[in-house]
Amino acid sequence: MPNDAALFPRNLKKEYPIAVRGEGCWITAADGKRYLDAAGQAAVVNIGHGVASVARAMAEQASQLAFAHSAQFHTATAEKLAARLLTLAPEGMREGGRVYFCSGGSEANETALKLARQYFIERNRPERFRVVSRRQSYHGSTLGAMAMSGNMTRREPYQPLLPEWGHIDPCFCLHCPLGLLFPECTLACAEELETMLRHDREKSIAAFIFEPVVGATLGAAAPPDGYVQRIAEICRSHDVLLIADEVMTGMGRTGKPFAVDHWNVVPDMITFGKGAASGYAPLGGVIVGPRVVEATAQGSGAFQHGFTYQNHPVSMAAGNAVLDALEEQDLFARVPDASHALFAALEPLKQHLLVGDIRGLGLLSAIEFVKDKATGAPFPREENIAGKIFQAAMNEGVLTYPTQGCVDGVNGDHILLAPPFVITAEECHITARAIAVAMEQVLSAL
Ligand SMILES: Cc1ncc(COP(=O)(O)O)c(C=O)c1O
Repeated sequence: MPNDAALFPRNLKKEYPIAVRGEGCWITAADGKRYLDAAGQAAVVNIGHGVASVARAMAEQASQLAFAHSAQFHTATAEKLAARLLTLAPEGMREGGRVYFCSGGSEANETALKLARQYFIERNRPERFRVVSRRQSYHGSTLGAMAMSGNMTRREPYQPLLPEWGHIDPCFCLHCPLGLLFPECTLACAEELETMLRHDREKSIAAFIFEPVVGATLGAAAPPDGYVQRIAEICRSHDVLLIADEVMTGMGRTGKPFAVDHWNVVPDMITFGKGAASGYAPLGGVIVGPRVVEATAQGSGAFQHGFTYQNHPVSMAAGNAVLDALEEQDLFARVPDASHALFAALEPLKQHLLVGDIRGLGLLSAIEFVKDKATGAPFPREENIAGKIFQAAMNEGVLTYPTQGCVDGVNGDHILLAPPFVITAEECHITARAIAVAMEQVLSAL
């Protein structure tokens, strides 16, 4: 009899249902229970589950050529996907830009970190190595990506392993860490970057990385107009590279191909993952802007970094087939309407005693829960309100993505909603109803 508890899980004290099938916005478990996937698992499944054309494209690729090492071969499918992603990138990145593929968001951010280092070595500026970022951000699980992340609870256990390269405050007007109000604040949170770069006497800062809309950590927190533009301006004036982490926000999730498009900002690198293959295969990467490409092309030529599975043919086939599905069904254009339907369905929840805020951009949205509706004060972390609401909604058959710490890095509960772009108005209502029931259950048990 094989051991049915051999898998090392996310939590050894938890039981997980066995997922057997996915279709559209729905996942079916082995016991026959169906779940409406209102979080696209973790803002991953953009085109919906069970799209047969993607599965076919992957199978065809695997039967023709499953693997070729990137040190020895390129493939037509990888070249094609890179070219297609460049056409989606902001205009200033297309001409002379390149795409580096890997297997997910953490690897993408590790790659961007090392590319920033490479850029300054090629330019004979080896003193520049720090990649600074913001508190309450998440850039991945590997140690380089984690070093850049400002998510306190995810960092804490690994603190001794993490170099401290510097963090500035996040841009989050609802719980402004500086206690200021927009627009009178004149974007003081962005000016922290200017101050940090001005005081960097050794000129050791190579790059700044940020999530244009903060996904998991702050719960779909979009900055006010002017913030992203100012950050880009500061980086440019100090010759520091700007890296937009669009692992969660990219590939149409916020209603534009990349979230930086909302503010017409052209970063030096965009990292992507999640929606790039919509969960059909592990796929992430970096869109590398022309000045970073040029520095290496005119210098050593060689990037001292690599993964065995970079450019994996089956992942490349999945990425291309996902782009085909997005194009054929015009799914990017669907995001604003679907977003409107979702926010309309959630609107009545604003009255609920537990709801402090409902926010987001496109189909990246969140509900924040408060202990005191009048003051907006959060629940203590130990209450795990987000986790309880997630579980109660899951029992009701709706999947959300819970996180804590949005208020100050420790307290503050929210659930993220990031459904497939194919979500219908009816499915938005099912989602809202299940969350309402879940909140009632949690409230009455308090
Ligand atoms: C903004 C952001 N960056 C990076 C990552 C890490 O991506 P992955 O889990 O694919 O390694 C995530 C994952 O949630 C993310 O949301």
